[in-house]
Formats: sequence, C-alpha cells, structure tokens
Amino acid sequence: MKNIRFYELLCYNSNRKITNRKFEGAVMELKASNGEGIDSWKEVTLIYNAALRQIETKMEILNDEFQHVHQYNPIEHIKARIKTPESIVKKLKRNGYESTIDNMVKYINDIAGIRIICSFTSDIYRIVDMISDQKDIKVIGVKDYITYPKASGYKSYHMIVTVPVYLSDRIVDTKVEIQIRTVAMDFWASLEHKIHYKFEGDAPEHIKSELIECAKLVSDLDVRMLSLNEEVVAISHGGERVCP
Ligand code: GTP
Ligand code: MG
Repeated sequence: MKNIRFYELLCYNSNRKITNRKFEGAVMELKASNGEGIDSWKEVTLIYNAALRQIETKMEILNDEFQHVHQYNPIEHIKARIKTPESIVKKLKRNGYESTIDNMVKYINDIAGIRIICSFTSDIYRIVDMISDQKDIKVIGVKDYITYPKASGYKSYHMIVTVPVYLSDRIVDTKVEIQIRTVAMDFWASLEHKIHYKFEGDAPEHIKSELIECAKLVSDLDVRMLSLNEEVVAISHGGERVCP
C-alpha cells in the first residue's frame, strides 16, 4: 500500500492538458492497492480519460454517420469530465467507504462522465439504442428519469456502461456514466443544480415549487417542439431533418 497526496498529483484538466493541480486542505489521501488492475491515481486518470475519449469518439462517429445517412445530427453537443479527487473522496465518505483506489473503482460509477445533449426526446432513445447495440460496450445499469422524473422535476436518461481500455499488458473494463438529455432538460438541470448548491439542498419551498413548475414547462416545450418538427418533416421530406 502506498499513500498518494492529492495536492501533489497530476490531473487532466477539461482541455486535456496535464496540469499540476493544487488542492485545498493538505491531508486528503487516497490509499492505493492492486484492485481491478489499477494501482495509482496517475493510472486512474489515464484509464478513465481513455474510456471517456472512446465513448466521446463513438458518439461523434454515430452523429457523423447519422448526418450522412439521415441528413441530421441527433446530438447537439457533448460534455465530458473526470470527477475531481475532492468529489471522489467526499462521495466515498458520504457512502461510508474508506478512501482507497479499490473502493473508488468499485463503488463510484461516475468517475468518468459524459453528457450528451440532444434536440428532441426521440433522439435520446435513439442514442440509447445505438449505445446498447455496440458489442464492446456493456450496459451495467440504466435510470430513465424521462419516463419516471425525479420528485424535484429532474429529467434525463442515465446509463452506466463499461468500455474496454486496451493497455500494453492488459484490458481494463472501465465504467463511464452517460447522461442523455434534451437542451431544454439540460437548461433546467443546470439551474436546479446551482440552486441546490446555493441552498445546500434545502431551498425555500416557493423556489422548489417554482422549479417543479418550470420542469412542467420544459416537458411541454419538449413535446411541442418535437411535434412541430415532426410536422415540418412530414411537409418537406427534402428538408434537413428527415428522421424525427
Ligand atoms: P449521485 O447523485 O452521483 O450520487 O448518484 P446516484 O446513484 O444517485 O445516481 P443518479 O443516476 O440518480 O444521479 C447521477 C447524477 O445525475 C448526479 O450526480 C447529477 O449529475 C445528476 N442528477 C441526479 N439527480 C439530479 C437532480 O435532481 N438535479 C440535477 N440538477 N441533477 C441531478
Ligand atoms: Mg454524479
């Protein structure tokens, strides 16, 4: 077992450049071991970044192919991120686990996270099917918060998948959390997330109920935009979007 001090570690920032990150609070430590074939934080970032890049590339290829075959893009944009060491440690603690590499690999499903933003709800299920059909991707769990929204009003489709990362001497099946939602759902979720943090999860009742009201408006907007698009597609088959 070796101890790694977070504030000394090399992490990838969102632009994928390697930066020497400084962390507040000096004594956060993560104990390393040989679990799941990953034994250092450097290896963790390398492997999870590789997994993220693979899923991102797969999504870009699907989007390009869709443009080629159906003349439209189901994906508006993609955001990808690696969870910060601070959040990993917090989440392990919250769930009652010791901060070890074994535990983070085993119990944290969203170390690598990718968010796929689509125009229409129908695009979400199309992407879900396309991901599920890929032979090297294993779907290990899904949560359909679109059919079954959260009490907060949150809507999104979540998948936990594994993708094989080929290293020089072994293959590591690596977990990635994929969140798929419409532009409108994403707009709502970003504001709700900010409010949640601002009030530390305990927002005043009128704000909570206003958010639920806005979530309903977002759902209505998604339904109306979809049917508007379907109507336009039906009128002009030669139009840009031929596959609503
Ligand atoms: P964590 O929330 O990550 O601890 O995992 P979980 O096991 O509860 O999984 P879930 O699929 O419910 O949520 C995973 C992620 O979805 C969260 O980390 C958020 O990014 C997002 N999410 C879930 N619920 C909400 C919500 O009510 N509002 C917003 N804005 N985001 C949410
Ligand atoms: Mg999360």
